[in-house]
Amino acid sequence: MKGGLTGMDRISKPTNADSEAFMPQQSRMQSIASAIDETTSGFNLMKWLGERSYVFEPIVHFLSKKAVPQHRISIWYYFGGLTLFFFVIQIVTGLLLLLYYKPTEQEAFSSFLYIQKEVPYGWLIRQIHSWSANLMVLMLFIHMFSTFFMKAYRKPRELMWITGFVLCLLTLGFGFTGYLLPWNELAFFATQIGTEVPKAAPGGEVIVELLRGGEDVTGATLTRMFSFHVVLIPGITLLVLSAHLLLMQILGTSVPIGYKEQGLVKGYDPFFPNFLMKDLIGWMIGFALLLYLAVNLPWELGVKADPLAPAPQGIKPEWYFWAQFQLLKDFKFPGGELTAIIMFTIGGVAWALVPFIDRQSAREEKSPAFTIAGVLVLVFMLVESYRVYLEYGF
Ligand code: HEM
Repeated sequence: MKGGLTGMDRISKPTNADSEAFMPQQSRMQSIASAIDETTSGFNLMKWLGERSYVFEPIVHFLSKKAVPQHRISIWYYFGGLTLFFFVIQIVTGLLLLLYYKPTEQEAFSSFLYIQKEVPYGWLIRQIHSWSANLMVLMLFIHMFSTFFMKAYRKPRELMWITGFVLCLLTLGFGFTGYLLPWNELAFFATQIGTEVPKAAPGGEVIVELLRGGEDVTGATLTRMFSFHVVLIPGITLLVLSAHLLLMQILGTSVPIGYKEQGLVKGYDPFFPNFLMKDLIGWMIGFALLLYLAVNLPWELGVKADPLAPAPQGIKPEWYFWAQFQLLKDFKFPGGELTAIIMFTIGGVAWALVPFIDRQSAREEKSPAFTIAGVLVLVFMLVESYRVYLEYGF
């Protein structure tokens, strides 16, 4: 290097106090930048990025601080990331569908037909959106039950569980509100039955009216479901999800009770880049499965809803509401619906408060009663859902 400025000198350094604080972390990216600087002229993306390393390095540093434990059941750590992956697919494909979808009683169904038949690859985007919604709910259930059985909700991760629980409600809200959007016969009558349920509870009429935008399911309901589906629920979800992921990064991944003491933890993967790369493999498998399902098992659009026609046979909600649906059917006696609603409300509140009720796991002691309760909830949901399947098919 002959006299004059070196590559390093020519890099303009950040001057504010915040960026000065990160100066020690700059060295690696800056030396890459200066090496490139000496051999090239004109605009160079790597050099440009290298000069701004003080912005990226703290983020990389924050991400690599978290370490993910490796043990015989660490496979369950992949399901939160898979839920996230399918959620991102939902946002992208949802935005694409919005380019052609028309949320009115007259045009909703025909705009779906147009997307299916006329828009290039419209059929694929619609199928991916429908399948990814189902896979997202499935991954979310697996993620929720696995974190439950691993007692990952225990102190100090209570807020991870609470934010997760809210995400579960929001995800079910996505499914419920999205179902009506094609304005087909099945969705119309299923929404009629679904939005009727709160009526059995005292003051429930207000909720029914709020959901329907009137006494019955009409075009006003479609407008509401549409705005819930594309504005309200996504907005809240993004906020709660950011909190969930930020907490995860700050608190780190939990280890099942007793694993450290028994020497069952084989080692730790830094989250960035090692675990993220493994996550990526999971996402690629998930994407391959999604494409396979979207191409080979398309969701039918059915026929346009006719609000004046009688409800056809075999109306049922989406599979993730089957357990509640079956219980409501079982409780067809006077006051039965209200009893079912009370049972679900108490069950839901207890589920949300699990980290505060399970005092043993908060003390790092095993809590078999909670494991058994979780197994009973799971068995109940599977048996009830299977009964719906036996009666109606898929
Ligand atoms: C949109 C839905 C959700 C997304 C995208 C999501 C995402 C994630 C991710 C990426 C992680 C870190 C990796 C992992 O442990 O799997 C995580 C951890 C966690 N999630 Fe979720 N989650 C969602 C819903 C839920 C639900 C419904 C619950 C429970 C009610 C929940 C409870 C937890 C807990 C307790 C952890 C900490 C796990 C540990 O430390 O071992 N999450 N979540």
